[in-house]
Amino acid sequence: MSEIADAHQTDHETDASDGQPMRVVVGVTGGIAAYKAVQVIRDLVLLGHHVDVVPTESALRFVGRPTFEAISRNPVRTDVFDDVAEVRHVALGQQADVIAVVPATANSMAKIAAGLSDDLLGTTILASTAPLILAPAMHTEMWLNQATQANAARLDARGVVLVGPAEGQLTGNDSGPGRLADPAEIVATILSAGRGERRRRRDAELASDLRGRRVLITAGGTREPLDPVRFIGNRSSGRQGFALAERAVARGAEVTLVAANAEVRPPEGVKLVTVSSAQQLAQACAEIAPRHDVVIMAAAVADYRPVTVAEGKIKKEQAGEELTLTFTRNPDILQDLSASRGSDQVIIGFAAETEPDDAKLLELGRAKIARKGCDYLVVNRVGWNLGFQSDENSIFVLAASGDVVSRHTGDKMSVADVILDLLAIV
Ligand code: C5P
Repeated sequence: MSEIADAHQTDHETDASDGQPMRVVVGVTGGIAAYKAVQVIRDLVLLGHHVDVVPTESALRFVGRPTFEAISRNPVRTDVFDDVAEVRHVALGQQADVIAVVPATANSMAKIAAGLSDDLLGTTILASTAPLILAPAMHTEMWLNQATQANAARLDARGVVLVGPAEGQLTGNDSGPGRLADPAEIVATILSAGRGERRRRRDAELASDLRGRRVLITAGGTREPLDPVRFIGNRSSGRQGFALAERAVARGAEVTLVAANAEVRPPEGVKLVTVSSAQQLAQACAEIAPRHDVVIMAAAVADYRPVTVAEGKIKKEQAGEELTLTFTRNPDILQDLSASRGSDQVIIGFAAETEPDDAKLLELGRAKIARKGCDYLVVNRVGWNLGFQSDENSIFVLAASGDVVSRHTGDKMSVADVILDLLAIV
């Protein structure tokens, strides 16, 4: 036994690093290999995991309850009618990181394949979404029987993991496939499935870390009309803002997306408001922002607009060889929203700069966050082939103090996640 514990020392170290022992349900069904389940249970316990043993009545004819209780250091029950008040099968099934049936007899495989639940083990398995591992052990003829093979295929198709059976000497003098897999292999399979399940659950938890947060995101680039058919615009495609909206929805936020002339399809699940000019964007934000906990200004907003918008198309015949347009400043939406924000509102601005030098880029960013008054500023470098319209982005995030709180280069979805992580810790 100590040999196996040593063999899994690396597993143990990895498990401990994620902070918590796993909860493993070990079902034991009625075959002679039940005595080897004791070793699997002991290994798991020595590795620091919590093990609930659920033997069937017939398993207890091979190994007694006191053995399982002593080895698992937990009370052992077999009947759904034990502890009715705490609905034990549901509790065991829901809490489990992994369920393993060691050994799984031909009969128990048939029952599990059919979804039968006439004992605590059957109900626990049905009540759980945790990975299920079966370690079959039976006579070769029973294993090779078409009925058992069909059950094994059915279980495999449902994602149940079968460890073994191994080939070798069986209980009598006969030998062939049907021997319980090596307990060390069973333990390794249990731990790897449990770790996978833990990761999936952590991801699912992360997926809802913005639940209940109302997030306003602006995206795209404004267009300032010159006449009914022409405008002054910029090359922002809306991709980064849309990626932010998509990831915020995926992480559970309620998202309003104000899009200005974006080239990409809006993600599912957002409340979409479309605008075109900076003034329209300013008006939409002034109206919508107070109802949101977070404002992310990813839109590229024109700083100036033509003083007059011609009623009809501007004619070269009238303008002659040179055309002079006069511009006036647009409102600074980010600055205005930051100045009038509620005490709990978080505001994130963007600064797209063409400055090639990192240190100078950050200096520009620090001056900008001080001027704008927002909580964070996402600074990214743009250029003819950089930032706008590409799928990749490279960012620094500055806090109001001027400190760089994160930096990241990657596709726009991963950049979105890095930015949204700021909200998870605010
Ligand atoms: O000053 P600059 O245009 O670089 O600032 C960029 C940030 O300010 C972006 O978050 C942009 O959405 C926002 N902005 C604004 N109103 C403007 C200009 C920029 O809200 N008129």
